[in-house]
Amino acid sequence: MSQKKIALITGANRGIGLETARQLGKRDITVLIGSRTEENGREAAAGLKTEGIDADYIKIDLDDPATHAAAAKEIGEKYGKLDILINNAGVFLGEEFDANGAPVPASRTSQDTFRKTFDTNFFNTVSVTQALLPLVRKAEEGRIVFLSSGLGSLGLHSDPKSPIYNYKVPAYDISKTALNGYAVHLAYELKNTKIKVNTAHPGSVVTDMNKNGEIPVEEGAKTSVDLATLPADGYTGKFIHLGQELPW
Ligand SMILES: NC(=O)c1ccc[n+]([C@@H]2O[C@H](COP(=O)([O-])OP(=O)(O)OC[C@H]3O[C@@H](n4cnc5c(N)ncnc54)[C@H](OP(=O)(O)O)[C@@H]3O)[C@@H](O)[C@H]2O)c1
Repeated sequence: MSQKKIALITGANRGIGLETARQLGKRDITVLIGSRTEENGREAAAGLKTEGIDADYIKIDLDDPATHAAAAKEIGEKYGKLDILINNAGVFLGEEFDANGAPVPASRTSQDTFRKTFDTNFFNTVSVTQALLPLVRKAEEGRIVFLSSGLGSLGLHSDPKSPIYNYKVPAYDISKTALNGYAVHLAYELKNTKIKVNTAHPGSVVTDMNKNGEIPVEEGAKTSVDLATLPADGYTGKFIHLGQELPW
């Protein structure tokens, strides 16, 4: 079994995932760059290696469950455990907006948009987690992080004083609410183990997904890194943004 900590970050070929891998790698953690496209994953891993980071590519296509099982097999054979799983990959479909760029409201969001968004952001993220959990159990102190969003918070969405009250993108928002629910249930199931399960709101981060974001990826990756490196007496089952707890 590897002596170093091993972290897998899904969707790590760009955006918040790549920066999360960089920040974890700088802490001497071996980072596995989950990517659905081999070329992009290998390129990202090679870039991190030039920065002195121990990085490798691993194929994870959320929407292809065969890659979840294959990744678990590969990591098991190579490292024998997985210390950190960051479920970072996700989608925010352009079809959530109308021709004028306004979000399509809940009454008109199509079944297809809901299903595609939920497939990636919820069902297939759960599948990756279930496939890799046996390896996380083998680590000394496993950490599982789910990239949620403040937009997944029902507490914020139902509060007229909240900054997101007037910004509702139904399929994306509710897929993250569902993911929050899964995290709470998994944290409960694992509460008597050393594994900590938490969800992160990274902030409004400038990436391909959010070109109008407010903070750079360096700051956007911080919450994921914090949750991935929580100490043994750290919390579990929380929804966090930069150390602050958010309402579910
Ligand atoms: N940016 C923000 O302001 C913000 C705010 C709140 C939450 N988040 C969450 O943070 C996470 C990262 O977002 P980001 O802003 O870094 O997005 P991004 O730049 O669009 O990157 C998304 C990553 O997810 C991967 N991905 C998408 N669908 C996938 C699939 N089916 N299988 C495997 N990988 C897939 C993409 O891979 P490809 O390159 O192959 O497409 C890419 O690596 C997401 O879960 C997002 O919902 C972001």
